[in-house]
Amino acid sequence: MADRLKQRVALMFGAGCCAPGIGNGRATALAYAREGARVVAVDNNRDAAEETVRMIRAEGGQAVAVLADVTEAAQVNAAVTAARAAFGGRIDILHNNVGITSMGGPLEESIESWEHVMRSEPHWRVPHLQVSAAGDGRTGRAGAIVNISSLAAIRYTGYPYSSYYASKAGLNHFTIGLALQYARQGIRANVIMPGLMNTPLIHQQISGQYASTRSDDAGARRSLSDGQDGRTLGHRHGCAVFLASDEAKFITGVCLPVDGGQHCRS
Ligand SMILES: NC(=O)c1ccc[n+]([C@@H]2O[C@H](COP(=O)([O-])OP(=O)(O)OC[C@H]3O[C@@H](n4cnc5c(N)ncnc54)[C@H](O)[C@@H]3O)[C@@H](O)[C@H]2O)c1
Repeated sequence: MADRLKQRVALMFGAGCCAPGIGNGRATALAYAREGARVVAVDNNRDAAEETVRMIRAEGGQAVAVLADVTEAAQVNAAVTAARAAFGGRIDILHNNVGITSMGGPLEESIESWEHVMRSEPHWRVPHLQVSAAGDGRTGRAGAIVNISSLAAIRYTGYPYSSYYASKAGLNHFTIGLALQYARQGIRANVIMPGLMNTPLIHQQISGQYASTRSDDAGARRSLSDGQDGRTLGHRHGCAVFLASDEAKFITGVCLPVDGGQHCRS
């Protein structure tokens, strides 16, 4: 274990994994803990959050699990309160990992589905709660916000998911606004835009949903197999650790592709 995040408390939304295995949320939670952070692992799946905590503790790290649905403001508020109670009142790092896809363009997707996708991103109903978590004046320390967007914020990825494009693009610019608004308070806010990664969530959401909109899902499966696999997840988590750490203390308002160069394609 290293100490780039020693003594920091990381509040992480979406710290579990939607299926057995390791997705970006769990892997990043582990990466933070390996650098000395105490992790508050929030997820709407209690078992998934507890599994992340078990894995962190098995490596000698500190973590607690909190059950909360980020689409419910009251539950986010309760998670922030629980995080402060767990580790002495401080929150240094706020990591927003939750993001969901729903296949369909504006003519196919229901209003309910559109709104659910939007509510899953921190620029929607509960941003003030989550931002105030990292901007807790009582800590007297700088805060770092790391928001997980997607290459879909700036590119058409080939999948027809309009609400996802809109939600991730909104998250990017929301974060830039945060960065400037809160700079004088010592809070940095940055975005990571991953490219396609072979995680359990992708199989569940993209491959499964795409299959239901086409006669076959060969395109989705081919994209997955052509894309990065689980072994490359570490590069993204190294980036999250960097952005959360003092090594990035002059970096804010950045929307960084972490995609092995996929964004260079037209
Ligand atoms: N995997 C990819 O190829 C890819 C590409 C670009 C962007 N992303 C983004 O990366 C992030 C993580 O993706 P992943 O595939 O690694 O998934 P993941 O394995 O990190 O799983 C996401 C977690 O969020 C939790 N969650 C879902 N809805 C929630 C809610 N309402 N409240 C609380 N928790 C909730 C799930 O239970 C799960 O544990 C998402 O924001 C996604 O949009 C992923």
